[in-house]
Amino acid sequence: MKYAADLVIKTGPSMLPPRWWPLWKTSFYSNATMNLIDSLLTAMTLEEKIGQLNMAATGYAITGPILGDEVAENIRAGRVGGLLNLWGREAIAGLQKLAVKESKLAIPLLFGLDVLHGHKTIFPIPLAEAGLFDPLLWERTARAAAIEAAGDGITLTFAPMLDIARDPRWGRIAEGPGEDPLVGARFAEAKIRGFQGPDLAAGTSVAATAKHFCAGGAATAGRDYAAVDISERTLIEVYLPPFRAAVAAGCAAIMPAFNSVAGVPMTAHAALLRDYLRRKLGFEGLIISDYNAITELMQHGVAADLTEAAALSLKAGVDMDMMSGAYVRCLPDALARGLVAQEDVDAAVRRVLKLKQNLGLFDDPCRRVAPAEYLAEAQRELALDVARRAITLLSNRDILPLPANLRRIAVIGPLADARAEMLGPWSAAGSPDNCVTILDGLKAALPYCEIAFNAGVSIDGVDKGGIEPARALTADADVVVLCLGEAAGMSGEAASRAAPGLPGRQRELAEAVLATGAPVVALLSSGRPLMVTWLVERAQAVLATWFLGDMAGNAIAEVLTGRFNPTGRLPVTWPREIGQIPIFYAAQSSGRPADAGHRFTSRYLDVPVEPLFPFGHGLSFCKVKLENLRAIPKEFNLKDQIEVEIDAVNEGQLTTEETIFLFVHDLVASVTRPLLELKAWEKVALAPGQTKTVGFKLAAECFCFPDENFKPVVESGAFDILVGLNADQKSMFTTRLVFVGGGA
Ligand code: BGC
Repeated sequence: MKYAADLVIKTGPSMLPPRWWPLWKTSFYSNATMNLIDSLLTAMTLEEKIGQLNMAATGYAITGPILGDEVAENIRAGRVGGLLNLWGREAIAGLQKLAVKESKLAIPLLFGLDVLHGHKTIFPIPLAEAGLFDPLLWERTARAAAIEAAGDGITLTFAPMLDIARDPRWGRIAEGPGEDPLVGARFAEAKIRGFQGPDLAAGTSVAATAKHFCAGGAATAGRDYAAVDISERTLIEVYLPPFRAAVAAGCAAIMPAFNSVAGVPMTAHAALLRDYLRRKLGFEGLIISDYNAITELMQHGVAADLTEAAALSLKAGVDMDMMSGAYVRCLPDALARGLVAQEDVDAAVRRVLKLKQNLGLFDDPCRRVAPAEYLAEAQRELALDVARRAITLLSNRDILPLPANLRRIAVIGPLADARAEMLGPWSAAGSPDNCVTILDGLKAALPYCEIAFNAGVSIDGVDKGGIEPARALTADADVVVLCLGEAAGMSGEAASRAAPGLPGRQRELAEAVLATGAPVVALLSSGRPLMVTWLVERAQAVLATWFLGDMAGNAIAEVLTGRFNPTGRLPVTWPREIGQIPIFYAAQSSGRPADAGHRFTSRYLDVPVEPLFPFGHGLSFCKVKLENLRAIPKEFNLKDQIEVEIDAVNEGQLTTEETIFLFVHDLVASVTRPLLELKAWEKVALAPGQTKTVGFKLAAECFCFPDENFKPVVESGAFDILVGLNADQKSMFTTRLVFVGGGA
């Protein structure tokens, strides 16, 4: 049999399509949809099957793809199932046509790209966006990115990145939702809804890939790709929940992490991929390896050769091989050596084809190559809204918002006019040309104010020559806006930093400016919390402005001038010193809890145990007071829903928005429990002087944890409910409930 079409045609009407016409384009075919994958599998040679498991790359130039003869030939021969790092209508339509018109089986290709925080319109990096604590906006930015990416032919995004990260040395902390598993789970659901839309087959939807499964955030000493060795409890309670949520939300694909977990590289981790993801969670989607990760099993030292590496991955459940070529080169050998079975190959091919089918590619391979123009203006408005909401006001000694009658501002620092850096580490098809710098944003917002600018130093250079001229600008300035931080490439992949402070000569620049006594507002552009305790102690205000994307400058200007009352809250604890890392709010209790007055307690001799800023911290221009925490019923069983209420009072002069966090602490349990566990948060908008009651509803599962044998239990006894504006326990309100058991 030469064509898969022949096979299906037997079951359909007798009218034959042209021979080159893909079988799934024919009307009879829609009656035989159930047979598509089986039909193709029957018609495929081993080489073609393995080809579907192969994701390769093409080069890309402004003018279009640089398609080596080899790639084109491989597509024609059915040796490629998908391509990555390529976008653009013409390029993708061209390759899709090559696949469906010139390959024997006419199977369309997947096109994958890292669309993490926007495709053309670039939104704030995920860590910054996490600080919105707003699932609706998390979803909207993913939807917007999907519409743009799909319009550019992308079918699969390698996002959301769901690694819980508690170590700011690890550069990839920038890509994910921060330190908390509940935030990670809600982030996962929102992003998957946004990317995949209500119908994955629609021309505006892209398949989401939950990555990196799992625990990469716990890399030894914060070094990217390094081994991870964590307890089963930590895995279950901290690192897996976002992936569980992703699977439940219908995520189309999952990417194993580069790292090993307790001695087993994730690309070959049968217990976590096959047994946990596939069998326990019932994940039926695609598992796609990370870039070259299958070959790297040899470096990990668990595969003696590429055939073993390929076999280990396939056996563990990895369907698609991104960029290592191991499947193409070695699966035939692995089959011959009996290391894998034909059914393993077929099962993987089936999942690749299923995803293509779910994406609607068999109905119309070019559905995503939209002729329409993007809703560019609406996208930019959304980018502005999310960017201003992501800015976190860390400290403010009555200097912000800036008064309207400012005469002269000195803008100093290497991040002020750094267009490309605003994009952050994963900018997909974004362009620096679309970015508004901090300097541009301030000039546009304050047209009557004289704005003098001097970068002073470069981001990480050694030259100090520019410090003096920059310092001189402060002499006549009403206020100095000091723009400090990292280059975009200093966070993200392969961007671990052992000393994540200000790089280069920036501290010297800042010290010189601070020494003049001029009022200083410091802006920190970064993909992680930076170690700048000294700056927070001395500047009048410090803001985390992360990497905010296209609209960075406008968003920052809106906050500085008070046109927008800041709402960003830290999704990650901000350490005081490097030596405190890893630091996170959900620490386990200790037999000797830290007590500054007692040496033999769990503390440091040289630094307080408290972070510089707790998880959830973020100021606005208003003080919001919480009062009158109440919860019913006081005694509960499994059937009960606990209703918790607290009153929030806006004592400020502006309309403001607060985020109120609810934590639980299990006082006595069969295993040690974290001192705080986030179980819910609510956002509330308050007019000046307004009081609102904020309510939470908690199901009994909020009190559940894995017991000694990792079975979920709610144990009888007392639980504290703690409600506050952040994870600083001293400022929270507490009420106690008792679980009386029963009611299952
Ligand atoms: C990264 C992934 C990414 C892939 C493709 C890898 O190096 O770890 O996160 O999706 O490259 O770009």
